[in-house]
Amino acid sequence: MEGFDLIQIEKMENNSKLPRQEIPPGCKIQNSKLDQLGEALRSDPKSWLVTGNAGFIGSNLTEFLLKHNQKVVGVDNFSTGYRHNIEDVLAQVGDEGAKNFTFIEGDIADFETCEKACEGVDIVLHQAALGSVPRSIADPITSNRSNVTGFLNMLTAAKEAGVKRFVYASSSSVYGDSKELPKVEERTGNLLSPYAAMKMTNELYGGVFKRTYDMETIGLRYFNVFGRRQDPNGAYAAVIPKWVGSLLSDEAVYINGDGETSRDFTYIDNVIQMNILSGLTDNPEAFGEAFNVAVGGRNTLNELYALIKDQLNKQFKIAPSENTPGVQNSPIRITKEPIYRDFRPGDIRHSNADISKAQRIVGYAPTHDIYQGMEEAIGWYVKNISDAADN
Ligand SMILES: NC(=O)c1ccc[n+]([C@@H]2O[C@H](COP(=O)([O-])OP(=O)(O)OC[C@H]3O[C@@H](n4cnc5c(N)ncnc54)[C@H](O)[C@@H]3O)[C@@H](O)[C@H]2O)c1
Repeated sequence: MEGFDLIQIEKMENNSKLPRQEIPPGCKIQNSKLDQLGEALRSDPKSWLVTGNAGFIGSNLTEFLLKHNQKVVGVDNFSTGYRHNIEDVLAQVGDEGAKNFTFIEGDIADFETCEKACEGVDIVLHQAALGSVPRSIADPITSNRSNVTGFLNMLTAAKEAGVKRFVYASSSSVYGDSKELPKVEERTGNLLSPYAAMKMTNELYGGVFKRTYDMETIGLRYFNVFGRRQDPNGAYAAVIPKWVGSLLSDEAVYINGDGETSRDFTYIDNVIQMNILSGLTDNPEAFGEAFNVAVGGRNTLNELYALIKDQLNKQFKIAPSENTPGVQNSPIRITKEPIYRDFRPGDIRHSNADISKAQRIVGYAPTHDIYQGMEEAIGWYVKNISDAADN
């Protein structure tokens, strides 16, 4: 593949031969769900603080809120996030949206930064953290500084500023070695990494701040999120952008273990939806609680690999170029097989969420399964991985 530019084929046919997950009952695909929430936001504008908004999830939340006429304060120290994500958000939301945005460059491990960020805010969506299980195993102290000290600083600063609603990112890693499937919020296992211990600590503090200070904390246990602005670079890049990058540059693709490890891959639009629902809910049953944020499906790494190849082959052809006259405009055909290597320490074997608690308490209804999410996301991955390679 090396040396070819790709262009996206405009009309996509839905001819996937891959097995599709059954969408659980009550989890109807309804593309208008985010639109409805957007309308609700517009009718009652508020001030939101999104921490980690130069990162993947935080930038998507910031964009959605600004597009729907909300005021947004962002805070980020660019440890794993990028200025270009913020620039892209501002370009997407136009002048009207951009004038509602204030950005504070700073570290949440510094309490004064957190105090400043919470001024005049109605709702906090706390996303800033150092992600990645392997990163936390390699250097737990650095991860703890952002993920525990920074978390407690944010929670305390919000309390002192009189902000009641504090929605925060937890993680499916808190299920540890529990073998139970699907994962139900009440039952977790022995934790398998420092990262999981940090996210569990966040949940403990979330519960304590509800009971002690009557704060409306809501923890969101994200299950393998993917989509636009997910970082394709670096040693701790997530599996989907890492594999797309390797396939496009004809490098070896590694699968840790036998490929039968499974995950509930969750498209970013579902995560945006759950954050907005959590920010707006007036159901007291939600406060002090943690919720699974997923689709309720489960795909193995082998299935994921097949899906990525399928989408690349279906959606892209080789761009016209003087250097490659014979092959231009031909569909690409990726047939490469992955290389299997050892299991990665700290990884959970299977992960599949029961999402009924989120459905029941805040009205969560995921709009995209992994297939619909990948159809939307693959173009972004190809463009951004190619752009990064060109620079
Ligand atoms: N992406 C996933 O699949 C996933 C799964 C489970 C949980 N999470 C959690 O969701 C949240 C967002 O994850 P993401 O995938 O967008 O990661 P990301 O790395 O893209 O974004 C995190 C952002 O937080 C910022 N940040 C980190 N430490 C900071 C600090 N001390 N002060 C200020 N800013 C800081 C980073 O610079 C980055 O912009 C994190 O809390 C993560 O642990 C993500």
